[in-house]
Amino acid sequence: MHIAVYPGSFDPITNGHLDIIRRAAGLVDKLYIAVLINKQKKCMFTPQERVAFIQKAVTGIENVEVISYDGLLVEFCKKVGAKAIIKGLRVIMDYEAEAQMALINKKIDPDIETVLLVATENYSFISSSVIKELASYGGDISCLVPAHVQKAIIEKGREQL
Ligand code: PNS
Repeated sequence: MHIAVYPGSFDPITNGHLDIIRRAAGLVDKLYIAVLINKQKKCMFTPQERVAFIQKAVTGIENVEVISYDGLLVEFCKKVGAKAIIKGLRVIMDYEAEAQMALINKKIDPDIETVLLVATENYSFISSSVIKELASYGGDISCLVPAHVQKAIIEKGREQL
């Protein structure tokens, strides 16, 4: 059985993430979406909220499971028996960070491979951060995130006023 992990902060999930999830789910028997801690980032949503947003967005994709985990990505992979980490690559700037992560993870566990999927053209400019910034100025994010996520971002923005 081929098991892979698609990790990230997912603060919150975007249509770009969903594109990678759909494509990755088609490559493996089981795909875990791991909501992990990125110590460089201050998040808008709690891990529980982020998991719930993803669960709703992936309804109907049978071989996907969403879990949050506070620890090393490689430890999570071992826990669920995954041999591959899937990441999305948008622009060339992503490559440096992803290559560094891949090498660190390989150092920790040489048996786990990182597979980089190139983002679909339409999503190569999307990030959770840019979407949150656009929403904070009242910009239209309806084609960038699922509807329930758009609603949650707008509500969170109002709470923070
Ligand atoms: O969506 P992001 O913020 O780019 O995802 C980064 C993430 C969460 C995948 C990365 O920070 C991570 O793997 N965090 C867990 C801790 C870990 O294993 N770090 C790498 C080795 S130091």
